[in-house]
Amino acid sequence: MSVKDPSNKVISLTHRREQKIGTAGAKTKQKPTTKARVIAITSGKGGVGKTSIVANLGYAFTKMGKKVLILDADLGLGNLDVLLGLAPKYNLSHVIMDEKTIEEILVEGPGKMKILPASSGIQELTNLTRKQKINILTQLDQLIDGVDVLFIDTAAGISSNVMDFNATAQEIFVVVSPEPTSITDAYALMKVLSIKYSEKVCKLLVNKTTRPEEGREVYRQLHLVTDRFLDISIEYLGCILNDEKVTRGVKSQKIVSELFPETQASRCFRDLARKISATPPVNLPKDGSNLFLRHLGSD
Ligand SMILES: Nc1ncnc2c1ncn2[C@@H]1O[C@H](COP(=O)(O)OP(=O)(O)OP(=O)(O)O)[C@@H](O)[C@H]1O
Ligand SMILES: [Mg+2]
Repeated sequence: MSVKDPSNKVISLTHRREQKIGTAGAKTKQKPTTKARVIAITSGKGGVGKTSIVANLGYAFTKMGKKVLILDADLGLGNLDVLLGLAPKYNLSHVIMDEKTIEEILVEGPGKMKILPASSGIQELTNLTRKQKINILTQLDQLIDGVDVLFIDTAAGISSNVMDFNATAQEIFVVVSPEPTSITDAYALMKVLSIKYSEKVCKLLVNKTTRPEEGREVYRQLHLVTDRFLDISIEYLGCILNDEKVTRGVKSQKIVSELFPETQASRCFRDLARKISATPPVNLPKDGSNLFLRHLGSD
């Protein structure tokens, strides 16, 4: 994992353990090898289904025998724990305040997924300082041994919190729904990823489609403009059909894949998980080096 200090110098947190980062609670120590896949799930517009996707994809991965960790990076309005019917005593706000370590706030969800819950209603957490980000990422880096996939569920939008978490991941899945506002917001997000964070690739997930062709059409529209105006390519991952059982699951605080495994959305999640699993990123680290390949921008 690496971050940039304000002088634009890259500090590797994974490799150069001798280089102490002077952040409270973020102790550095030699770390054994790991090869977790780090996937950020993000969107321009809110409410397009990021948290539902993270929870259901995570669950589908556990069913394939993978060890899954989910970071709720929607720090001001986290609700992954609510969606999963968990009631964690502690959350990332306690880590940020140095009251708990990241390991101490871990809770277990369906399929034995490990969850790092966020707080809700603490506005200051929507704008973390660079030191606070380094603290979280350093501790996360040390927690990830033995994990196959780390999903990062971000908040919506293009705030620096969101974009820094995106830039930390090896892969960025942009979630979009078929509405025009969601599509234009996805374009805006990719523009920032490309121009400010020099991202070259992101993957598109179209949620709440009425039929599979609608997903492809959204991809076609976005691809047309990104191809013309941005230096970033989009890969089409697939779509998840609109299914009222997803919301029914939310109401009973259980994910749809667990509650209604044969409904169409659950099938989409399973198919997607298989597809994602079959196509690991080319830059997947083999030996723990560069776990978090990207860097944080300075404050
Ligand atoms: N495939 C789907 N079919 C029907 N409803 C869906 C689907 N996916 C998500 N939803 C519903 O959309 C709503 C928003 O979902 P969710 O909270 O996962 O979105 P989000 O992108 O994480 O939102 P936020 O930006 O606020 O974090 C929920 O009511 C959820 O049940
Ligand atoms: Mg969410």
